[in-house]
Amino acid sequence: MLDHITALRERFDQALAKADTPPELEELRVAFLGKKGHVSSLMKGMKALSNEEKKAFGLRVNEWKEGVEQALAAAKRRMEEAEIDRLIHGAKPYDITLPAVPPLAAAARGSYSPITLVQREVERVFVSMGFTVEDYPEITDDYSCFQALNIPEHHPARDMQDTYYLSNGQLLKTHTSAAQNAIMRKYGAPLKAIFPGRCFRNEATDACHENTFFQMEGMMIDESISISNLIYFMKTMLSEVFRKDIRVRLRPGFFPFVEPGFELDISCLICGGAGCPSCKGGGWLELCPCGMIHPNVLRMGGIDPERYTGFAFGLGLTRLAMMKYGVSDIRDFNSCDLKKLSQFIAE
Ligand code: PHE
Repeated sequence: MLDHITALRERFDQALAKADTPPELEELRVAFLGKKGHVSSLMKGMKALSNEEKKAFGLRVNEWKEGVEQALAAAKRRMEEAEIDRLIHGAKPYDITLPAVPPLAAAARGSYSPITLVQREVERVFVSMGFTVEDYPEITDDYSCFQALNIPEHHPARDMQDTYYLSNGQLLKTHTSAAQNAIMRKYGAPLKAIFPGRCFRNEATDACHENTFFQMEGMMIDESISISNLIYFMKTMLSEVFRKDIRVRLRPGFFPFVEPGFELDISCLICGGAGCPSCKGGGWLELCPCGMIHPNVLRMGGIDPERYTGFAFGLGLTRLAMMKYGVSDIRDFNSCDLKKLSQFIAE
């Protein structure tokens, strides 16, 4: 019986020397240590032995069994270390500095919309200048969207902002200005806030008009605020976003909730001002209607117009994203065309 152990030990040692992959090791383990393996058949053979012999033999078998287990574990460890060594130093070294997520998987995970990227950038600039960022629902009512902005029922200014009405009389906000009244009531004066949001209009769509688009409203109200404050903040923001000084111009513009009202245009960055479909051939893009908040609007917001003045602007975020990323058709944003939309990455 003892000879039997010696023979098996030799067999195991030889087989172990030949095994050089983990599956081969596993085969060896099953053959020797498995339920029907050599070790358990040795144990079964013990029945025929006397008690004395059983003790001595059992001890030897157990010793050897432990030896086999240790040898297998050591061989497994060596193989794993060799594999790591091969990956790092092998003929085709494995670059352990590669990012954990391969680029393809990152693309499948999605990306930020160019509008989100621009929105965050504009928010960062305004927050650094002391503005708070406010949230406001997409569904609002006639009072907030129009009446509180000095646009009574049947006012012709409503024609410019036809929208989608819900059966309960509420409506989808046509502009971020719809939040002005709520924010004035929430904070009172002085106040410095921006409020980005999705807006909806019943529009005929073309390369620069969509029925769903994003704006970023801004308001600053304090004692002796003038239009020069507005120009300063807008120029600072635009030169941060475009990383260069960009040309702007102010034209008079009419909005019932500002007096005086302006259109702030920037030179078209797609055609450089020569004229293209995105700028309707004019070389300028209407980017930001703005003006001094009308006293009636301040009053409806609970702010004393005798004491406070303020400016408001309604930045076209979607248009800004078109300018920044050179998107020539506004309809691309809602097209769900991932090939187009996933190419923008945060800087
Ligand atoms: N709410 C206006 C619009 O969307 C823009 C605007 C905002 C004008 C603030 C002046 C001041 O057309």
